[in-house]
Amino acid sequence: MNEPAIDPIRRLTPVVRLAPAKLNLTLAIVGRRPDGYHRLHSVFAPLGLADRLSLSPAGAERDSLHATGYDAGPLEDNLVLRAIAATRVAVGGGWAGGPGRAPALAARLEKRIPVAAGLAGGSSDAAAALDGALEAWGAELEPDARLATAARLGSDVPFFLAGGPALVEGCGEEVAPLHGLHGRPGVLLVTPAIPVSTPEVFAVFDGLGGRGNGSTRMSSGHLAEELRSGLTAADLVARAGALTVANDLLQATLVLVPELVPFRRALSRLLVRPVGLSGSGPTLWALYPSETEAAVAADAVRVSVRDGRLSAPGSAAPFVAATAIVSGRHEERES
Ligand code: C5P
Repeated sequence: MNEPAIDPIRRLTPVVRLAPAKLNLTLAIVGRRPDGYHRLHSVFAPLGLADRLSLSPAGAERDSLHATGYDAGPLEDNLVLRAIAATRVAVGGGWAGGPGRAPALAARLEKRIPVAAGLAGGSSDAAAALDGALEAWGAELEPDARLATAARLGSDVPFFLAGGPALVEGCGEEVAPLHGLHGRPGVLLVTPAIPVSTPEVFAVFDGLGGRGNGSTRMSSGHLAEELRSGLTAADLVARAGALTVANDLLQATLVLVPELVPFRRALSRLLVRPVGLSGSGPTLWALYPSETEAAVAADAVRVSVRDGRLSAPGSAAPFVAATAIVSGRHEERES
């Protein structure tokens, strides 16, 4: 007698991924492609703050997405669904139950990273969906195909496939891991409730002359070299003065959101620390030797906002969080 056929979809297991936020420790703009995209030289660092994504084989016709936490906009446009669809195309019939197309996935996304904040939460979700879908389907892609699929989803997506701090060049597709960070530097994040559009910031940057600053590029090169050869959390904090000004998009974001100018100054005065901008903002950050020290600072910011000593721009109270730079992929997996 024949063995009863086991439905290939029922053999697939649910997958959970943490999708970390990122911080740009430096962001130099070093050129422009003919299609208008800007070439970068940027040190990216993943953070402990992360969205949580679960993917389950659904037995349904279509992929689905259920999201909780920060509002990520219309679900049908969400990068998680686009990433699953793009990965399915890239895999073709090459999955555990192939040769047919890989089955629909039910995605659940817990958004803990503020949206349109310069923390690349959406891009990280997309990378988690790409990687998680491959595991859920028992499929593999060659590194080049993974990278190409990620890069098509967005400039920041390839970075998240690497895991750990990295030097990011080109338009995001050249990712060189930097393995020399020792310890877990603490990071305070303060995100005013003012969504900032990255294309608008780049458009203002172009309008202001479209040229990066040579000293930003130099700081970025130095930091990448140090993070390659070995840098402690304390050494990184000691470089905060140079790093917090090493962002070529800073001026454009401050032109677009002028309320950030006095807020950044007031925050820096309160913390007695230099304060930087992540990516195109509006998230502001400060570095600490540990997450515990960042948590003390986060409490001070929350109290100051609540009692009116620190006046934050935006439609609501700012997002304030203490987190840390994480240095390995294993730290980004929950199971
Ligand atoms: O690639 P992504 O969709 O994240 O980029 C959003 C927008 O940011 C692009 O449409 C482009 O206007 C701008 N951008 C850029 N150069 C980059 C990355 C993004 O001009 N390297």
